[in-house]
Amino acid sequence: MMKPYTPEHADELRRTASAMVAEGKGILAIDESMGSCEKRFKSVGVQSTEETRRQYRQLLLTTPGLEEFVSGPILFDETIRQKTDEGTPFVKVIQDKGQIPGIKVDMGAHPLAGSSEEKVTEGLDGLRERIKEYHGMGARFAKWRAVITIGADIPTRQCYEANAHAMARYAALCQEGGLVPIVEPEVLIDGDHDIDTCEVVTETIHRELFMQMFVHKVWLPGAVLKTSMVISGKACPQRAGIEEVAERTVQTLLRTVPAALAGVVFLSGGQSPEESTAHLNAMNRKYHSALPWPLTFSYARAIQEPALKHWRGAPKNVKQAQKLVYQRARLNGLASQGKYSEDMEKQAA
Ligand code: 13P
Repeated sequence: MMKPYTPEHADELRRTASAMVAEGKGILAIDESMGSCEKRFKSVGVQSTEETRRQYRQLLLTTPGLEEFVSGPILFDETIRQKTDEGTPFVKVIQDKGQIPGIKVDMGAHPLAGSSEEKVTEGLDGLRERIKEYHGMGARFAKWRAVITIGADIPTRQCYEANAHAMARYAALCQEGGLVPIVEPEVLIDGDHDIDTCEVVTETIHRELFMQMFVHKVWLPGAVLKTSMVISGKACPQRAGIEEVAERTVQTLLRTVPAALAGVVFLSGGQSPEESTAHLNAMNRKYHSALPWPLTFSYARAIQEPALKHWRGAPKNVKQAQKLVYQRARLNGLASQGKYSEDMEKQAA
């Protein structure tokens, strides 16, 4: 595969990408949009304002020891501009921990014209300039999430192609601007579909995505795939167990993801924290050393949930909430090496 960049530029992308998925580490997603923040905060009785969002993200980013298991966080546009109570920019907090700042650059999933239920992710207009700004602020990787919904007669070709094309163009722009792109096709867990359906849909979007990445000359050693697991729909009457999810997910990845890619990370997508960790562990327990790429986490809810519930907006809860963040990050770090076991859940954080 030809490198579209100078050797130095390519080497920097490759080094960043490898550091993002370093052994025993994963990524923490804290890039929730305003709407998602509103929803999550509301569930614990906190009003979502610029200040409460800052306090919450401060709690997450300043968690003592987080850097042992988290190579970097994915920030939101508002968050990358914010500071701690003491006035230290969040980006500096991250860099001082030896972590890599990441940034969500897509502008959300919007209705796909011509399809009543599907979405296409927008955000390509002006992206080159935004990447330049984020790079100047210290970001070294980026994320773009596409949403694929399973339902009667969907996903359509139109949805696969439109989203894969946008992700590939985003990835090429990122690499040009010195950011490692995370391409994230999320097959939603919502619905009563079975695991076979999820497998076919996941395989199809991966194939389309890597085809488009080839067309747009995305350099794979400097890119990371963030994907959903091959799993039964939430409302499926017969949900597959942990071993089957792990097996199907790994086999689907092996069929569709080029070996040259820097790494594969998972979103949690509505699985419980324990389930997300158990699935990641089952994959690595069996396949860790046999896979061509590291397989690790890039969870938001599955790491944050216990801490958010404990925090509930009160400063006196911050310390214990941070212990809960640390605990989930640690367990996922172990799971990324196949070294987690369920009884570790009982040890108090
Ligand atoms: P969840 O782990 O909560 O699914 O979020 C990960 C993410 O970044 C989705 O884009």
